Amino acid sequence: MSDNKIDKKHVSNNSSSNDSLSSSELSFSAPSAVNQQKRNFLIAATAGVGALGAAAVAVPFVGSMLPSERAKAAGAPVEVDISKIQPGTMMTAEWRGQPVWIINRTDEMTAELAKHDDELSDPNCEVAQQPAYCKNAGRSIKPNIAVVVGICTHLGCSPTEKLQAGGDMGENWTGGFFCPCHGSKFDLAGRVFKGSPAPINLVVPPYQYLSETTVLIGDDTKAEA
Ligand code: FES
Repeated sequence: MSDNKIDKKHVSNNSSSNDSLSSSELSFSAPSAVNQQKRNFLIAATAGVGALGAAAVAVPFVGSMLPSERAKAAGAPVEVDISKIQPGTMMTAEWRGQPVWIINRTDEMTAELAKHDDELSDPNCEVAQQPAYCKNAGRSIKPNIAVVVGICTHLGCSPTEKLQAGGDMGENWTGGFFCPCHGSKFDLAGRVFKGSPAPINLVVPPYQYLSETTVLIGDDTKAEA
């Protein structure tokens, strides 16, 4: 484009002497050595920018054609080492973009689960919010280890852990989870207390033990049903 301007200007300056120059003559005016250098530079620069642009378009396009590691990882089972969870505490893993709580309940906590059935909306887990092998008092494979998706069944907030009895939850609180969004309460098995906006218990994901201290979340193909 610059060359054209330069050439046109050059020709225009001469047009007083020859107003009858045609456009084809303008196009084919002989470039000077300097103009040729500029032209070569512009061609190279344009080619470079074009190549970069093509690469920018091609990378996501090629990426979309390859198996998406992220997509595969998003749905993949997650292996979790639970050996460091002290009794009475919990850890949070991530599976399919969701928080999954793994709670190491003490014997006292486990015993407490059987004492407040009348306060719960679904104490016997009739709603299928857990695999069949977790339809029991603790909603778990092992009595002391609970594995629960930490997303409130009301509107999807993540409740706050209130594992210990009493405290700011009041003297009748026996441990569990509190959703501050609208006040839902869950016990240490993820069962919802009556009067909560959340209609059903928290989800227990499919899982299995690969060893005494390793849990595989998201895959229960070898777990006992
Ligand atoms: S989202 Fe938990 S109580 Fe509303």
